[in-house]
Amino acid sequence: MCGIIGYNGFREANKVLIDCLKRLEYRGYDSAGIGIIGKKLQIFKEVGEISKLEKEIPVFDGDIGIGHTRWATHGAVTKENAHPQLSSNKKIAVIHNGIIDNFNFLKEDLEKKGVKFSSQTDSEVIAQLINENYKGNLRDAVISTIKQLKGSYAIVVVCKEEPDILVGARKESPLVIGVGDNENFLASDISALLKYTNRVKYLDDGEICVLSKTSIEVFNENKKEITKKEDIIDWELKDAEKSGFPHFMLKEIFEQPDAINRVLLGRVSEIDRTIKLHEKVEELLNYDIQSIHIIACGTSYYSGLVGKYLIEQLTNIPVFVELASEYRYFGTKNEKSLIIGVTQSGETADTLAALREAKNAGSRTLVITNVMGSTATRISDAYILTQSGPEIGVAATKTFTSQILILLLIAFKLAALKNKLGADELSKYIFRLKELPRKVREVLDHSDKILDIALQLKNVKSVFFIGRGINYPLSLEGALKLKEISYIHAEGFAAGELKHGPFALLTQITPVITIVTRDNTYDKMIANIGEVKARGPEVIAIADENDTEIEKHADFVIRFPGSSSPLSCIPIIVILQLLAYHVANLRGCSIDKPRNLAKSVTVE
Ligand code: M6R
Repeated sequence: MCGIIGYNGFREANKVLIDCLKRLEYRGYDSAGIGIIGKKLQIFKEVGEISKLEKEIPVFDGDIGIGHTRWATHGAVTKENAHPQLSSNKKIAVIHNGIIDNFNFLKEDLEKKGVKFSSQTDSEVIAQLINENYKGNLRDAVISTIKQLKGSYAIVVVCKEEPDILVGARKESPLVIGVGDNENFLASDISALLKYTNRVKYLDDGEICVLSKTSIEVFNENKKEITKKEDIIDWELKDAEKSGFPHFMLKEIFEQPDAINRVLLGRVSEIDRTIKLHEKVEELLNYDIQSIHIIACGTSYYSGLVGKYLIEQLTNIPVFVELASEYRYFGTKNEKSLIIGVTQSGETADTLAALREAKNAGSRTLVITNVMGSTATRISDAYILTQSGPEIGVAATKTFTSQILILLLIAFKLAALKNKLGADELSKYIFRLKELPRKVREVLDHSDKILDIALQLKNVKSVFFIGRGINYPLSLEGALKLKEISYIHAEGFAAGELKHGPFALLTQITPVITIVTRDNTYDKMIANIGEVKARGPEVIAIADENDTEIEKHADFVIRFPGSSSPLSCIPIIVILQLLAYHVANLRGCSIDKPRNLAKSVTVE
């Protein structure tokens, strides 16, 4: 939530800031603003998307500045609450991502001293406090201030009296330093910087940095200087651009054959008939694991549910999938349990908090994430990168399929370690894994058939998704995709549960999307379809291309290539993504930036 960018270099700061903010907009789009230090401190803010800010912005001179795109937490969506937030004397400007838990207390204290506030945000407290603590050294004022803050923050600060530097600090919210030649950056996300640099330094919690055009200094809260290593990011600028697609989401759906190959590359060998994960990961899997807890939110939680079916079927190890927001407070912690955190961004506040809780309780932690250097990679014992490239669309697509594949590789590895999977069987799976990119491409090539079904759905009020086994979490994800980008009410159910309540909501005009695979659930699914049809709604079945029976039962059929197997979940999910995309597109929705959502949920 909230994208932040700081620039200190030789270019026109307002151009760089607007450009970077456009790349950060997926973090929030309630309001945006920039602050430039030139001859004076100039601030400009607008409610709404960055394009509005860009249209209205006056010409500001200056080569140092800060920019922010907001997802509102404290205070309504107004210009006053947009960032940068200023101290009352307009000396200090701050952009902030996070939540200051004790802001009411700090605010009251400042008000008693006569400080006048002009917004309802918790972030304004930071600007006012820095100003109170300012004794001629911005770094020291920031250090004194963060010692008073409780909660999470990534901040970038400029001061009228020290117009040559940016000061940044973080705790539990992402902030990365971009290293350039005669220019330096601070940003919440690496993808914002790719046009300018691929060299980064990661700030850790409790660290403060001071950036001039040519130098980067990092300190801890005791003002001791810290040496940070520089990393190179292997993402390219084109990965973070639409490249001719109308939406990032569609581009990312179409990138899935490639994303699958990237997961498999170097990890799955057809010749040796082996699955090879990073040494540290294999070490973790080699312990005496008695259970696994998968912790995640949203779509990542659903990939965890798919993972549960895969791991339990192949290894018999019990897997508990927990919503991170619940687990952190109520989950049972057990040091014999392996904790797997699944998080595309590596920055989801609840997932990070749950991982920290588990670690404190003595559990071993493994993270599956797409973002190298993200907080999740730095607080866990080991991590596996999905290597999907940047995902900009708020709706997760390619990272979901990659997470499932990584969980599948973990399942294979564990099964092999426990002697539950023979070499021949593993070989068969490896062969099928290698076929996946082609199967996904086939689904993508027939996107027009899915568009035909989308036309039937574009005006409905409500849609049910049902499935059994692995197809149950796919139904949940199919429903989430549809509701988040098309705003149609959609619910996913385990097919056997319909009779236990949800049937009451079913009317003749509620289409039911059923995922039917030819396994031990097939007959039951056909019976469930019958029960649905008896009540009048139309049934759309997603079924394998060899299923010759399904047309007798369903009104419409969308085929996935090949015959049913646990790996069919990948082409099936691509169908569900395309269906949601087409429906949302036909309804003219804001696909990449759905209302009220943000890509990375860095507050609780
Ligand atoms: O970055 P994470 O994977 O931790 O994000 C978790 C959820 O916020 C995320 O999966 C969300 O549900 C999706 N963007 C929905 O498409």
